[in-house]
Amino acid sequence: MLDTLLDRTVLPGYTSVGYKLRARAWDDLPSMAGKVVIVTGATGGIGLAAAEGFARLGADVRLLVRNAERGERAAAKVRSDVPDAHVGVELCDVSDLASVRAFAEQFTARETRLDVLVHNAGVLPPERTVTKDGIELTFATNVVGPFLLTWLLADLLAAAAPSRVINISSGGMYTAKLDVDDLQSAEGSFDGVRAYAQTKRAEVILTELWAERLHERGVIVHSMHPGWVDTPGVQESLPTFNKVMGPLLRDAGQGADTIVWLGAADAPLRSTGEFWHDRRTRPTHRVPWTKESDEDRRRLWDTCVQLSEVA
Ligand SMILES: NC(=O)c1ccc[n+]([C@@H]2O[C@H](COP(=O)([O-])OP(=O)(O)OC[C@H]3O[C@@H](n4cnc5c(N)ncnc54)[C@H](OP(=O)(O)O)[C@@H]3O)[C@@H](O)[C@H]2O)c1
Repeated sequence: MLDTLLDRTVLPGYTSVGYKLRARAWDDLPSMAGKVVIVTGATGGIGLAAAEGFARLGADVRLLVRNAERGERAAAKVRSDVPDAHVGVELCDVSDLASVRAFAEQFTARETRLDVLVHNAGVLPPERTVTKDGIELTFATNVVGPFLLTWLLADLLAAAAPSRVINISSGGMYTAKLDVDDLQSAEGSFDGVRAYAQTKRAEVILTELWAERLHERGVIVHSMHPGWVDTPGVQESLPTFNKVMGPLLRDAGQGADTIVWLGAADAPLRSTGEFWHDRRTRPTHRVPWTKESDEDRRRLWDTCVQLSEVA
């Protein structure tokens, strides 16, 4: 009951207060020795903390980053915090479809399994820009690139079944209804927070669609939101929010906890396509007017297929 109350009242639940109250009842996680885990966007913030969490459990962790120097710095931090860590750096810009293809090609040529794929890299840009593929940057980074990466790594994931894909969404998606006619925020003046929330809604819908598609191959797909976490991204993109919430924000480890739990624990394997926060499933809508139609969902999937040129 306390858990649900924290969830519905948002403010305490999303902060470190909610985390501390809930974490009192949690079990330790099993060893992940021998499991291969990719965490995208692992140079800092929640991604780096998730990578450290997986390394602590003994997994072979790959930090998927777009900048080699920042990636090596992050790997050094993991090794210094977890001295026996198995950690490596993989180069890939997830907003760039050619980069995603090049990474997937060399990764699948050299690896035999992938146990956990965490789509954590995310952006909230202040202005509308398009990538070299001609896709709006928020949509490219948060939605289309991860879609293509999942598509291209699906065989490796299936080879490690039961395996897991974890999409990092945001509580901000509760405010958004999928606008399938304007997925790339081209109409009217650009509102970065709105564009971001819409991509985070899209991630949750695609989680459900991928879950249906990959279920028979032994790959489960979940999404989660980390709460409000003090990270370089929040400091830069939401400075006022960061200042007002100050010490109430979660630290990166608290924000990453449910990612590591979804990747390691047995309980998440019993379902697929769910939305989680603090190790519990959560509703995907708070109000009826954010609900999308089946036709909207199909159009979102078709747009990702078309933009990532997989069909
Ligand atoms: N912090 C929060 O309160 C909060 C709340 C809800 C959801 N989230 C979600 O949690 C995830 C992590 O958030 P965060 O706050 O930790 O963010 P952050 O501090 O901004 O870190 C974002 C990470 O993504 C990487 N990245 C960005 N674009 C990339 C690209 N094109 N290719 C590869 N990597 C890229 C960044 O790498 P560089 O070093 O190269 O920039 C960085 O490692 C995001 O998906 C975010 O939407 C966060």
